[in-house]
This record gives sequence, structure tokens and C-alpha cells, in this order.
Amino acid sequence: MYKGALFHLEFTDMSLKDKEKWDAKYAVPEYITSKEPCVWLKDNADLLAGTGAALDIASGEGRNAVFAAEKGYETLAIDVSATGLDKARSLACEKNVTIETRVADLDDWKFEQNAFELVLCFNFLERRIFSDIKNTLKPGGLIFYETFTIDYLKYSNFKREWVLEHNELLEIFSGYHILRYREVDRDETAFASLVAQKKNDS
Ligand SMILES: C[S@@+](CC[C@H](N)C(=O)[O-])C[C@H]1O[C@@H](n2cnc3c(N)ncnc32)[C@H](O)[C@@H]1O
Repeated sequence: MYKGALFHLEFTDMSLKDKEKWDAKYAVPEYITSKEPCVWLKDNADLLAGTGAALDIASGEGRNAVFAAEKGYETLAIDVSATGLDKARSLACEKNVTIETRVADLDDWKFEQNAFELVLCFNFLERRIFSDIKNTLKPGGLIFYETFTIDYLKYSNFKREWVLEHNELLEIFSGYHILRYREVDRDETAFASLVAQKKNDS
């Protein structure tokens, strides 16, 4: 069982703004990101062993965390938005599974080393935590990562720092076995998706 890191509710000015923004977005009855897992996670679910602990980073309303729990993982969902995580727990209840949740600023989160068999990160990019993400995975563990790429700037007013460069995920996880990777630019959206496995000797 994942024992969890220290729980605290201190936020920087920036994360307080994020918290207010996301709490307001999630404060509607419907699930704005849907109740279904991301397609990349669902389509690559054949890779999921379904045992051990999973961490969903910036989990929002919990669609991917709940999917991991349904697959058999003891799942921890972290997000700065308490409103999002309330909905994540409701979704888990609806699907008859249990997830743990922590309201936290990922900038300050004390990632436990070698703690998770599975780490999920969808639609969130904070480059400062890449090394933490890598360290918190157990050897042999899987990372599923998907977020917007630089091509998305054609279709949005995103800032450049919020999007991945081409092949950036491949570089970040270059010491891993890259199991699946794609870059997509179609229908006015553009993103990169990766599944990689931490090597047993790392
Ligand atoms: C686009 S949503 C993605 C939610 C989820 N991963 C999904 O794909 O359904 C981005 C999430 O990042 C969270 N977030 C933003 N800044 C954060 C921070 N500093 N610490 C923790 N969570 C943060 C937001 O609250 C929001 O739920």
C-alpha cells in the first residue's frame, strides 16, 4: 500500500491562482473532462499489469485515476483543486472502486522514491518535476504521459512554456524503454503521447 507523502496545504501565489482557476472550472455538476479515461490510456491498457500502486499527477476530475483503480491499482490522485478531487472520489464511488486523493501543489510535493508501478500524467506540464516523476517510478514501472505540443500554438493562445517541443518526451525518458510514442497534429489539436518503462537496473 502506498504510504503517501506529507500532506500540506500551502500554496505559492502561482499555484493559488491555478487552484482558484481550476476550482471554478470544476464547480459545475457535469464532468468537464468527461468520465471516460483518455484514449491513449484506454488504447494501451494491454500494458497494464494491474498490480501495485499508481499515481495520477494533476488528476483533475479523476477519469484516469479511476480507470487505473478499475484495472486493479491502488491509486493516488494528486491535484491542486479540491473541487476536482471531490468529483474524482464521486466518480470512483460511481464505478465501485476506491482511490486516495491529495490536494497539493505539485511544485512542493515530496515525491517518494521508487514508490509506484504506474505513473499517469495527462494534460499537465511542469518541467521542474520531470526528475521527481522518474524517481518516484519503481524499476520496471510504467509512465503514461500525454500533453500538448508546440504545434498546438497554432490553434490556441497557450504559452510556449506550457507545451512540449517535438520529441521532448523521448529525450526526457531517453534512459527508459520507450514502448509506445506518437505525435499528433489534427482537427485543431496537437499533442504527444508516450508509454515508457523504467529499466530494472536504473
Ligand atoms: C487540463 S487539467 C488535466 C486533468 C487530468 N489530468 C485530465 O487529463 O483529465 C490540468 C490539471 O492540473 C491541475 N494543476 C494545475 N497546476 C497544478 C499544481 N501546481 N499542482 C497540482 N495540480 C495542478 C489543475 O487543477 C487541473 O486539474
